[in-house]
Amino acid sequence: VPYEWIAPLLTKVAGLCLLLIAVLFAFVSPPPSGFSWGAGGSAYQTEGAWNVDGKGMSIWDAFAHKKGKIFLNDTGDFSCEGYHKVKDDISLMKDMNLKHYRFSISWPRILPTGIKNENINEKGIRYYDDLINKLLENKITPIVTLYHWDLPQILEEKYRGWQNASMVNLFNDFANLCFERFGNRVRHWITFNNPWVMEGYETGEHAPGLKLRGVGAYKAAHHIIKAHAKVWHTYDTQWRNKQKGLVGISLSGDWGEPVDISNQRDIEAAERYVQFYMGWFATPLFNGDYPQVMKDYIGRKSAQQGLGASRLPVFTAQEKSYIRGTCDFLGIGHFTTRYITQKNYPSGRGNSYFTDRDLAELVDPRWPDPGSEWLYSVPWGFRRLLNFVKKQYGNPMIYVTENGVSEKMMCTDLCDDWRMQYFKDYINEMLKAIKDGVNIKAYTAWSLLDKFEWDEGYSERFGLYYVDFRDKNKPRYPKASVQYYKSIISSNGFPNQRELESWKGKAIETCSSSNQLLAADPLISHMGMVTEIVVPTMCTLSILLSAVFLMFLLRRRL
Ligand SMILES: *[C@@H]1O[C@H](CO)[C@@H](O)[C@H](O)[C@H]1NC(C)=O
Ligand SMILES: *[C@@H]1O[C@H](CO)[C@@H](O)[C@H](O)[C@H]1NC(C)=O
Repeated sequence: VPYEWIAPLLTKVAGLCLLLIAVLFAFVSPPPSGFSWGAGGSAYQTEGAWNVDGKGMSIWDAFAHKKGKIFLNDTGDFSCEGYHKVKDDISLMKDMNLKHYRFSISWPRILPTGIKNENINEKGIRYYDDLINKLLENKITPIVTLYHWDLPQILEEKYRGWQNASMVNLFNDFANLCFERFGNRVRHWITFNNPWVMEGYETGEHAPGLKLRGVGAYKAAHHIIKAHAKVWHTYDTQWRNKQKGLVGISLSGDWGEPVDISNQRDIEAAERYVQFYMGWFATPLFNGDYPQVMKDYIGRKSAQQGLGASRLPVFTAQEKSYIRGTCDFLGIGHFTTRYITQKNYPSGRGNSYFTDRDLAELVDPRWPDPGSEWLYSVPWGFRRLLNFVKKQYGNPMIYVTENGVSEKMMCTDLCDDWRMQYFKDYINEMLKAIKDGVNIKAYTAWSLLDKFEWDEGYSERFGLYYVDFRDKNKPRYPKASVQYYKSIISSNGFPNQRELESWKGKAIETCSSSNQLLAADPLISHMGMVTEIVVPTMCTLSILLSAVFLMFLLRRRL
């Protein structure tokens, strides 16, 4: 038959057309109007002023002051000096047209001894009053976290911190004071930021630096969940009528994808990964109790170890009904994804949260890994996590409270095209999730500024704005992603591919001039020269040399 070749050709043409259409429509429609675009940070990471105006010490002050805990023995003592730069920072937000700003209140800054009846530090209150007022004057909604890891140090010393059930009432008193003083202007409250306390109570890499493997984190989390519920009830009974706000929590969660999607054991292991991560906190708040897999696995391992009771604490029936339904919205902090496979850990070799899960985490070496060691860019994982949350917890209202990427310390450059790429890919997956019917109300780029990254010190930069930490004034310089994110905000999403390319072009123009400004900063020290000038020069030189070498090789071959 002479026309035999037409059929395959037609299929090919059709395939190409489909591909073209897919490329053209790769960007999904914008989120509904009223969607809020913002950025965030937290008290200890940005404020500095650690001992100013009557502030008490937090566990992070104490931890960072110990040598050998933080990369290069750095501390958050000064950090971005955010405490003294409210006006400057708000003008940065204003310039980007942010609709909201997420920050946290330092508990020891307003209650230096941690306890409300003992001493209220009015100067600390005034700082947050001023911040909130200035945000509102600029039409930026404050989203306020009550606990972003900076427990008053004295509570750690006197009570053993979150290991002690007394924290529930003390935290409730602190929260109640915040509702009383700020609640007439703040409508969005986050009780806890990422209470996945593993680093503080399991591995000891974060404050308070305890290594209570397989026990301490479960106990701390138990008290944190109760404290969250108590604060929600306090708001609900005492303030909601007057203040009409919302109380939620912000949970971090990686997505876990089975290595082998046809292997039931991998599928279950991946589900366990997510349940031990986000489900640990979300399931009690939405359904009243820990995920069944956590109860099963930790219970079984505890029994094998000859313990009389599970290392996972138990809620009473009364507590379960008190805790269930105490989330007006769910905050989600998301950065990355892991492949998961089943792996048995014999129970004889000591306890640990990590071995309780019976799984192993893997990454695909082809995933882009632009910043922190753990942060692989896997945008599709974000959409899956958001859909998981919708399905598991009855389609709750979601605020994306953290999403972003860091950069490697060397070859630092304000033209951060990998960050623009990350935002583009992750925001696009979030928009797809909205199309899937996930009820997402806000997106928070993490973070507004480069800041103190916990045990990593200043070596990982998440900011839209570069902060020159060597300069006492901590000047801020916009990276290209500032301009890029600003365009996303003003278009409420992505208009089309062509527009996107022009955004990128424009953003790159702005960053080259910022690069020059940064290079011209007269306070750059000798060390500064090494990272700011010598390293980029060396990078450029080595790229040039490789190019010449390649050319040489190619010519020889020809
Ligand atoms: C940090 O402090 C420890 C203990 O004093 C010391 O051994 C180490 O060299 C310090 N590191 C740096 C980078 O200064
Ligand atoms: C909790 O703190 C109180 C008051 O300091 C103390 O009496 C009690 O022993 C502590 N409980 C635990 C489990 O540490």
